[in-house]
Amino acid sequence: MKKQFPENFLWGVAYSSHQVEGNNVNNDWWEWEKKGKTKEKSGWACDSWNRYLIDHKLVEDLGCNSFRISLEWSRIEPQEDEFSEEALEHYKKVLIDLEKRGIKRVVTLFHWTLPIWFAEKYGWHHPQSSEIFERYCKKVIDFLGSEIDMFLTINEPRLILNRGYLKGDFPPGKYNPFLFFEARKNLVEGHKKCFDVVKKKKPNLPVGITQFCSDFRWRSKSRFFKRITERVEDFYNWNFFNKLDGKFDFVGINYYSGYRFGMKPPFIEIFKPNNITTEMGWGIHPDGLQEIIKNAWRRYGKPIYILENGIADGEDAYRTKFIESHVKAIQNAIGEGADVRGYFYWSLLDNFEWCEGFSKKFGLCEVDFETMERKPRRSYYAYQDIIKKNKIKNNK
Ligand code: BGC
Repeated sequence: MKKQFPENFLWGVAYSSHQVEGNNVNNDWWEWEKKGKTKEKSGWACDSWNRYLIDHKLVEDLGCNSFRISLEWSRIEPQEDEFSEEALEHYKKVLIDLEKRGIKRVVTLFHWTLPIWFAEKYGWHHPQSSEIFERYCKKVIDFLGSEIDMFLTINEPRLILNRGYLKGDFPPGKYNPFLFFEARKNLVEGHKKCFDVVKKKKPNLPVGITQFCSDFRWRSKSRFFKRITERVEDFYNWNFFNKLDGKFDFVGINYYSGYRFGMKPPFIEIFKPNNITTEMGWGIHPDGLQEIIKNAWRRYGKPIYILENGIADGEDAYRTKFIESHVKAIQNAIGEGADVRGYFYWSLLDNFEWCEGFSKKFGLCEVDFETMERKPRRSYYAYQDIIKKNKIKNNK
């Protein structure tokens, strides 16, 4: 097996608009927070709307050749069909600055937050939602398309659908399987329409989605249960990709941990092979990532990017090992033939972790939310070392 990663491998970090920008007063999550549905409100978040240059410097010093960010739809289209030049200009500056630093720009069009007008009048369960999303996409590609290196339409449709339409702890807070299927259909349509928009206007810009993928295992070795587990995996990890009629240039994977099923209580549990529990209550299970990559490669044969992988660990006790072991899993998968082209750690900064507020610390950099000072943790330097050498330490 090769010691080093491929020469053009993308080493990156990621964050999303609502989790870091601050004062996104015009979206559905802001409203959700006002209703007391989250442990804390996003408020100023990390103030990255104003402090993005500081963030970019941290990404540059880390040695990353890529950065994944998202655009805030509610800033770009604050009222229906009225676009804000100011917001678009802002993002243009952000993207041009990254370019100047030699950092590739991986941009997500929709990372969970919807303008209030869209959420109130439409929502993803509305039959016109995909057309409205397409109009937003057109504007973005016309204005910013030349400043984007890789384009993601939707972040994690699985979570948008499950938590927004079945569990109800994300907006729009529904518990309705009928609307779940309507919303899924429209998200699929929305993606496909945006894919066509990009292919028409910027044919060389790679387009895809990124999905929240979990490793699923059954406690028993029986073939029957293996089959059931495969069906579950198929539904949660791959079902959305399968509906896109091949309209994706790469497979985006966000990976955190896995589940284990059994016939006895608790029936479903989070898999914790080494008994470590992270602040999110998740386990550390790098083998699961290797499995998922293998499956993605077997199914689609397209380039794979790990667009999120991270751990909430305010003490920074496990983060370095976490990154090393997951990077190793990727290397193993590459050794087995999979075409993996990038790894993005989630996240550059501690940030607004949705329902959990600010309590879960995913950052390579700690943020003091009073002063907004960013301070690299030890794991920041460990990741820097991996990037610099293009390999994991002691991986002779
Ligand atoms: C989401 C991020 C989130 C992270 C950690 C992913 O599901 O895309 O926005 O912060 O997981 O929970």
